[in-house]
Parts: sequence; C-alpha cells; structure tokens
Amino acid sequence: MSRRALACLAPYVPGASIDEIAKRYGLSHVIKLASNENPLGSSPLALAAIGNVASLHLYADDAHITLKNQLAAPYELTAQNVILGHGSNELVNIVAHALLDPGDEAVMAMPTFSLYPLAVKSVDAVPIEIPLRDGVHDIDAMLAAVTAKTRLFFVCDPNNPTGTRLDAADWERIFAELPEQVTLVVDQAYIEYADAPVFDAAMHSARRENMLVLRTMSKIYGLAALRFGYAYGGAALIASLEKIRLPFNVSALAAAGAKAALSDVDFIARSRALNERGKAELSSAFARLGLHAYPTHANFFAVKIPMAANTAYEALLRQGIIVRSGDGLHMPGRLRITIGTTEQNAALISALESLLA
Ligand SMILES: Cc1ncc(COP(=O)(O)O)c(C=O)c1O
Repeated sequence: MSRRALACLAPYVPGASIDEIAKRYGLSHVIKLASNENPLGSSPLALAAIGNVASLHLYADDAHITLKNQLAAPYELTAQNVILGHGSNELVNIVAHALLDPGDEAVMAMPTFSLYPLAVKSVDAVPIEIPLRDGVHDIDAMLAAVTAKTRLFFVCDPNNPTGTRLDAADWERIFAELPEQVTLVVDQAYIEYADAPVFDAAMHSARRENMLVLRTMSKIYGLAALRFGYAYGGAALIASLEKIRLPFNVSALAAAGAKAALSDVDFIARSRALNERGKAELSSAFARLGLHAYPTHANFFAVKIPMAANTAYEALLRQGIIVRSGDGLHMPGRLRITIGTTEQNAALISALESLLA
C-alpha cells in the first residue's frame, strides 16, 4: 500500500470544467472564470508554431539550449540558469523532491497556491503556513518562522488566491534576512499582469544564488493545456533540480509553442489591455455591490460575499458561471474569480446581482 505520508494528503483539485458543468446542469452555454486562464485564447504565434512541428516519432533534443538561452537573455543569465517544466506545477514538485528531506520545513503563506503544501507533505516534510495579513504575505511573521530545519521559503507574487503582492520593503527584508541555506522559491506565474512598478525577481538573480524564480506560459500566454513552465536559478541549484527532472518532460510541441509565444508581443499587449479593462469593470461592480475585493495585480479577484462561499459557488454554477469557492482555498467567505472578457464580466456581474438580491 502507499507510504504513510500519503494518508493525510488529498489530490490537487482543479477548477471544474465547462463540459462537466454543462452536463451536470443541462446548460448550453457555460462561462469558466475558475482557473485564471486567458479569455483571449492562445498566442497565435504559438499555435502556428505547434502546427508546424514535424518528426513526432523522434525524441526531441532534451537540452533545449536555444529556448533556454532565449528565456535567459533578458536577465543576462545563461542556459545553465534555466530549468524547463511540464508546467510550473512540475517544477514545484521537483523542488520538493530535490531539496527536502523528511522532517525539513518549508515556510509559506496561507492561503497561497495549494500545490506548495501538497508537494512538501508528499516528501514527508512539513509546511509551515503563515496567515496572510490583510490579504498580503506577512513577511515579518514568515521570517520569524524560519528555524534551523527550514529549507524552503515560498513567496507567491502576485499571490494566488488573493492577487496581492509584496512591497519593495518586504523584498529587501527577505534578501537581507533569509538565511543563506534556505532556498527562496518565488512563484511569479502572474507577473506579466502586474501593475508597475513590477518587482521581477529574476532581475535580482545576482543577489541570491539560492533563489528559484518560477514562471509559466499557462496564464498570459494562454497555453495552459500545452504545459510549459520554467524557472531561473543559480547554476548549482538548477543542476540539483536537473537530477530529479524526468527526461523529455517538455514535449516538442510545448517547446515550439513556448519559443514562438515569447516573441508574441502583440498578443501579450492585447491580453494585458483586456485584463486591465476587466479589472476596472469588476472592481467598480464589486464596489457598487458593497463587496470587498483585495487589490489585484493578477488576472483574478478574491471577492468577499455575504454568504458561505460554497453556497455562492453552487448558485453561480446553476447560472452557468464557474468560479472557485474560497472554501476549498483556505479563504472562507470569498470567491476567486478570473477576470474575463467584457461580456463574461457582465454575465458574472448580473449573476452576482441576482444572487445578492
Ligand atoms: C501561483 C501559481 N503557480 C503555478 C501555477 C501552475 O501553473 P502551470 O500551469 O504552469 O503548472 C498556477 C496555476 O494556477 C498558479 O496559480
């Protein structure tokens, strides 16, 4: 049977799918605002490149040096500073397997991306979960929780599920005070959506050898189903992670799509503009309805609702709108709602109005 550590673990729960909800409620039209995907679809340059991939009968070149150099160049890093993943999810898992021994501790916020505690527990290590303060990472308390057993310090910036981010003083404290032997894992899955001034942790790679900066193409690049994530880190850290990575974890299709998406500046600009417009539409609706939402720097809101989150979630599902209930995200009383197109946002707002009436 399975290892003891698995007894206290539940599998990761993704947002419900459109097909599942359409079938369950007999709906012909369902809007998904549950998984922070890009409502504009995928980068067209990526789609074209994927369509041109030939030779699927051959194993791809697993080193991906050109792609890694392309990812490294804006930061004056090299291919040795980059690891590629089957989504950044896989990289979180690789970090846990490569860097944690049983009993080691990993400090993180709560709520934050639910995969961190799952990955940590899966290797018999211990997540130390520090509540957010006003929806933001409490860096003082997180640093105070670091002990001789701490090996990882997770920062999700902007944070899933709140959309909030650290300020410049928080970053300075981390760089100054986090002990050298602790690996700082910064997950910036949503950084492309962040408002200026953006703290791009990869720009600070020279300040900390022991830092890994996670990125993904699942969000603004619109390639969630392709599965492509990547991370920047010191060469020794990346070399350790490479020992755990499975060969050919990034498919030829994913590598081709990612390479093309990186240069799709038009799609990124359109996606960001749509998100900014949706952010304004939803934040003014929330204010009008008297619903508190944390200031978001991502493509989703964590909004407070005057009823149990699961009740609101189920009621919205029946109206054909999928969001995430905060009940499953350690965020009771709130919903996490992805910013959609103007039509999707309008449908959500009118569904919320009828729910609150
Ligand atoms: C903070 C954060 N990190 C990582 C991921 C996973 O991204 P990927 O699709 O690259 O595995 C998500 C997905 O929702 C996320 O919110």
